[in-house]
Amino acid sequence: MIDMTVKTPRNVQLIRAENAGFCFGVRRAANMVQKLLDEGNRHIFTIGELIHNPPFLKRLEEQGVSICSVDDIPDLAKRFPDAIFLVRTHGLPKEVTERLDEWKVRYVDATCPYVKKIHRIVSENSSPEIATVIIGDPLHPEVEGIRSYAKGAVTVCTDEVELENFCRNNAEFGKNGIIIVSQTTHSLKKYENCQKIIKNLYTNPKIFGTICSVTENRQTEAGVLAASADVMLVLGGRQSSNSRKLYDICRASCPATYFAESVEDVPFSEIAALLRQSEKDTFVAGITAGASTPDDIIEEVNIRMTNEIAINSDATANENPVIQDSMTFEEMLNASYKTIRPGERVQGVITSVTPTEVHVDLGIKQTGIIPNSELSFDPNFKVEENFKVGDKIDVVVVKFNDAEGIVNLSKKRMDVDKNWTALKDAFDNGEILDGKVVEAVRGGVIFQTGPHRVFVPASHTTLPRSENAPTEEDLQKLVGNESRIKLIDINEQRKRAVGSMRVVIREERKALQAKFWESAEVGKEYDGVVKSLTAYGAFVDLGGVDGMVHITELSWKHIKHPSDVVKVGDSIHVFIKALDAEKKRISLGYKTEDTNPWNIFTSKYAVEDVAEVKIVSLMPFGAFAEIVPGVDGLIHISQICEQKIQKPADVLAVGETVAAKITAIDEENKKVSLSIKALLVPEDGAEEVVEEVDAAEADEATEA
Ligand code: F3S
Repeated sequence: MIDMTVKTPRNVQLIRAENAGFCFGVRRAANMVQKLLDEGNRHIFTIGELIHNPPFLKRLEEQGVSICSVDDIPDLAKRFPDAIFLVRTHGLPKEVTERLDEWKVRYVDATCPYVKKIHRIVSENSSPEIATVIIGDPLHPEVEGIRSYAKGAVTVCTDEVELENFCRNNAEFGKNGIIIVSQTTHSLKKYENCQKIIKNLYTNPKIFGTICSVTENRQTEAGVLAASADVMLVLGGRQSSNSRKLYDICRASCPATYFAESVEDVPFSEIAALLRQSEKDTFVAGITAGASTPDDIIEEVNIRMTNEIAINSDATANENPVIQDSMTFEEMLNASYKTIRPGERVQGVITSVTPTEVHVDLGIKQTGIIPNSELSFDPNFKVEENFKVGDKIDVVVVKFNDAEGIVNLSKKRMDVDKNWTALKDAFDNGEILDGKVVEAVRGGVIFQTGPHRVFVPASHTTLPRSENAPTEEDLQKLVGNESRIKLIDINEQRKRAVGSMRVVIREERKALQAKFWESAEVGKEYDGVVKSLTAYGAFVDLGGVDGMVHITELSWKHIKHPSDVVKVGDSIHVFIKALDAEKKRISLGYKTEDTNPWNIFTSKYAVEDVAEVKIVSLMPFGAFAEIVPGVDGLIHISQICEQKIQKPADVLAVGETVAAKITAIDEENKKVSLSIKALLVPEDGAEEVVEEVDAAEADEATEA
């Protein structure tokens, strides 16, 4: 127990039970929900109330977490394909869990491990012959779940009276063996009494201690505290069975026990009246709370109680009613400390920096501690490089741990708060935010921009669109990438933002397109990148706008496919041949007059020039030879050598390089006549008669 003594002249003690508030199982479930929220899940449903605490549930609802029943699940899963369901700490009946699997819905199991252990005990120790006794509330969901694991006869009794009646009236029950378990949060006393009955009525019963130790400790502690208290406050949800049981236990020892869900329910005036009427030297007020009561509710009540006690005691005349002349120095020192509560934003001074945490003086008696994990969102953040002793630091109070004399603090939460306004402005103004992908999560990635983590759905990342959802591996590849996003959705209450990289790319592309069309004109040249190839041409990205180079524009030669000339990713120089601003169509040219082989040929050679030519094909009437790439000339059979030959292959071979004289250039038809023999003609000037080439025959061969 924590003695938070506040001595007034009436000597009032306000004692808060040490085991008050969230238990391990509830905290674990609450953390699981928080994780789902942090991951940006938008449709979270808890199957039943996560915990029986209306203020807490209201807060969850404000963050977008809804409650559903098992029957609602198929419909919800259909309406929201990204819906995720959470099994609460009580667990679910076996057949319902099986149905979830059958429906193939996404769910997270937050069943408390203590409850799971009972499922296992009942499943492994019961049989068609061995009966099961469950001590608990038959209508409680936890009990319904436990019951579903029994393989034989089963009964649920709330206390020893019911149990005895049942056993005496059902002689057959458990005659071949019996096991007994209890609901985790049931009254320890009642369970002990039931165990005695079972031991009396059956031989070798198997008795399992299944009351959660947290509950056990809480109940024992509450009983002890209530026995010495003048007034007792039990905080918890009205539907919370463990809170109601705490109330019963306290009420049995302290008639002035009050039950409250939140600070608004606490009857401060009644308590004040009891205090004023009390003639005792020391007035003791105790506070305990059920397993589903959040810390901040307990803290809020604690603070209000401290103030009310002071105001309603004889100390009201003093400016600071808590500090009295009768106090010791230590008491006065303690009382002079300011009061802070979880959730408060405070400033402190760093008193030490360790590799794992930073200690902060908050002007209260407890030491403020910021674990490394709560210092920064940057995974590479170096504590020692960023903080030093004496620095002022703004933090959020997360939790008091009076037993250890520490207060857990978070700088991350403070940063989120501070920057939330900036993020909101960025959303309102459509700003583009720089940052980095820091984590791959289900359905997308987390993008870190400043201190903010923004969820980017997979469809809004830079991953190419595809029919199949990206795999975890695909998303993982984005981690570490620096990028830019625009916020596309923002949730004020949950302080969550959704971003898109794709929108940024799309908008930038639009801006580039507008700029392009402002200055685009026929003949203008661009450096572009080949984006894709089709059978009829190549699409080229000109920087936000695509144009097409038709296959015939790619080369002066005949090509079978654009890939004969370019490949995807090539940077090429193109020019606009034609454009249609309305239809946003651009025809590009790639081949130019400078690269026109005929121009190259004519700029290099004239009639009578001798060229080194390469035989490219042999025909019955002559041989075709390449003079420059793209321009071939014909060496008629009569011009191959001085002797008469049957066919060109008698003298020439494809691939052979020979010297030939250019004897004629037909500009109009782009034809060249060559002669090897002309180079062999004797100096005396005797000329051979060059047989006329059958033009039709040569054309046909050229085309072939
Ligand atoms: Fe689990 Fe015990 Fe809490 S059973 S949910 S840790 S009260």
